[in-house]
Amino acid sequence: MAAEKIQGQERAARPRILATYRMPDRVERAFRDLFDITILEGISDMDEIIRLCSGYDALVCTLMNRISAPFVSRLPAGIKVIATYSVGYDHVDRAALKARGLPLLNTPDVLTDATADIAWLLLLGAARHAAAGERLLRASKWTGWEPTQLIGRHVTGKRLGILGYGRIGRAVARRAAGFDMKLHSFSRSTPVQQPGGNVVFHDSMEEVLRHSDFLSLHLPLSAQTSKWLNAERIAQLPRGAVVVNTARGGLVDEGALAAALQSGHIGAAGLDVFEGEPAINPVIMNAPNTFLLPHLGSATQEAREGMGLSLVDDLRAFFFGGNPKSVVPAP
Ligand code: GLV
Repeated sequence: MAAEKIQGQERAARPRILATYRMPDRVERAFRDLFDITILEGISDMDEIIRLCSGYDALVCTLMNRISAPFVSRLPAGIKVIATYSVGYDHVDRAALKARGLPLLNTPDVLTDATADIAWLLLLGAARHAAAGERLLRASKWTGWEPTQLIGRHVTGKRLGILGYGRIGRAVARRAAGFDMKLHSFSRSTPVQQPGGNVVFHDSMEEVLRHSDFLSLHLPLSAQTSKWLNAERIAQLPRGAVVVNTARGGLVDEGALAAALQSGHIGAAGLDVFEGEPAINPVIMNAPNTFLLPHLGSATQEAREGMGLSLVDDLRAFFFGGNPKSVVPAP
């Protein structure tokens, strides 16, 4: 490739990047400033990606792209690094990448607050029948204020169980201070108390359930956590508990959740993620006591730009010398 001027420096060639989805303008511009990038309009067909990525040095994918072992084995030899536009990497077979010597970059930190905010939106929305209320209005069926209409659950002063006390779990805990909630969690490492916080750390995740009028999930999805919230564990929640999930749909056995929503054992659920998304379990979809969002956890301008710019920085470090800051540990 011809020599080009990049930010005052002469470089022999610009690394070639294939991105599977459009990104915010600012991010696309930052990529174009440094790289020779092809940005697809949004493609989840992995066979097609294999066909298209020949001749590229890096692949920027999203959680819609399943980076499986067979996919990795078919990647052209020129691909030197995979970057996922997400903090989660359960869609990536890290062992297969390790075997090929391919690093994986992701986007932690920058979406913590946006995701914690969505957890609170879901918690409050589920507790207070926000979806049912909005449906009533939009169907022009609201006939006016009534003392007994759409009575929800009081949040202030209640117990909030937080499973997964990492960056996002802790950000959710910080916000709970404004609601005078009593916090319960589990942490394998030395627990970090929040300023002004008073979290009770239990010996097991199961133990947290008994203390959760509200339960918010912030665990990574893995073989160990797949369908973790199953019928047996749901039964340990107090009757009427509200479940919030902004992490991954696969953490929850959705059949069991649907049954518990129908029986009333779970009072309401606020869900941003789903087991087979974008397909939604029909019982969960139609339940009057669910408040559902289409995986919007990181969907703010600040977070989505932060995610993309963090990948740009890390790919710059990877290709031009430096240490990428967000390299996912190999298994
Ligand atoms: C979104 O779910 C992400 O992992 O970034």
